[in-house]
Amino acid sequence: MKALAYERAHLLDAFAIDLVDVAEPRLRAGDLLVEVRAIGINPGEAAIRRTRSAPPGGRVVLGWEFAGVVVATGPAATGFAVGDRVMGTGDITRDGSWAERVAVDHRVVAPIADELTFADAASLPIGVLTAWEALVRDGDALPPGVGNVLVVGAAGGVGSMATQLLATWTQAFVIGTASRPESREWTTALGADLVVDHHRDLAAQLRDAGVGPVDLVLSTSDTGSRLTSYVELLRPFGHLSFVDAPGRWDLEAVAVRSLSLHGEMVFSTIVTGGDAARQGRILARAAGDVVAGRLRPIGTTTLQGLTPEAMRAAHTLVESGRSVGKTVITL
Ligand SMILES: NC(=O)c1ccc[n+]([C@@H]2O[C@H](COP(=O)([O-])OP(=O)(O)OC[C@H]3O[C@@H](n4cnc5c(N)ncnc54)[C@H](OP(=O)(O)O)[C@@H]3O)[C@@H](O)[C@H]2O)c1
Repeated sequence: MKALAYERAHLLDAFAIDLVDVAEPRLRAGDLLVEVRAIGINPGEAAIRRTRSAPPGGRVVLGWEFAGVVVATGPAATGFAVGDRVMGTGDITRDGSWAERVAVDHRVVAPIADELTFADAASLPIGVLTAWEALVRDGDALPPGVGNVLVVGAAGGVGSMATQLLATWTQAFVIGTASRPESREWTTALGADLVVDHHRDLAAQLRDAGVGPVDLVLSTSDTGSRLTSYVELLRPFGHLSFVDAPGRWDLEAVAVRSLSLHGEMVFSTIVTGGDAARQGRILARAAGDVVAGRLRPIGTTTLQGLTPEAMRAAHTLVESGRSVGKTVITL
């Protein structure tokens, strides 16, 4: 089959992802084989392209956000049948979905209704799972006492879903951050109660808006350099949840304010064990809510074709740091 792949880690300027022939994916017992119809593109995949090379003689196939059609099922892959329309993520230690077909553990896949286009479905999985796990951890509700949440980078892929899930699945007062007219407008449209600018003094803006201490910050960008400002915003026993690579921190201030730190890595369950099926259930709930009109898909740019040109354009967009919603490629 064809896949978009590369051999050596490289920068965008030297973009080297090519369409090549690769072996058909080998199904594990709990896998589905999915014919890929659309893929969502994430900054994390661009980061891997910049830093991870294939072993000698090998190739890297990225992409852990897709929608498509089941074409085969492993003997232990329950709940799915050939022909089902699905969306899902995958396992970052295995080949991804920038290919004609992908083998994926059925537990991180959810069925999608006919009303949901593949492009819309492919915009959802990573944002939904990362945001929801960052907010509720392995439970199903915000930590006790959390009445307001600051989502930093609210117009991005993760922030767009965090904003919507907070507005729809919780009672929290949602403060989103966005710095440009289009990202502010998008954040408001997704349900934020208040929008502030992450390039200006956050504490001053919240004071001006009459918002008291923040109960939970969900940080998607620059977490390390913002730690002091988050400590200032958060109430004692508040929560700082982060999804980016935060660098080294001085934890003294965190301890003085009695804060809880929540790290989130969307692939931690599938890679290291745990209740991966919970992710499938969260995705199924989100897919149902999109069809019911309670959540919006977040694709804002749709490119076409499993081609190096489309992929390069997508990487250029995600590396700009100015994405609103998500870039999707349809096959
Ligand atoms: N841990 C995980 O499992 C996981 C999963 C997915 C993503 N991630 C990581 O989470 C981060 C966000 O991913 P994403 O898909 O949401 O990214 P994204 O879609 O590229 O985010 C774009 C948004 O970031 C905002 N932004 C840019 N610079 C910012 C800054 N200095 N401070 C605050 N916001 C800023 C922009 O807002 P304005 O245009 O309004 O400035 C833009 O709307 C990335 O580091 C990604 O690798 C982690």
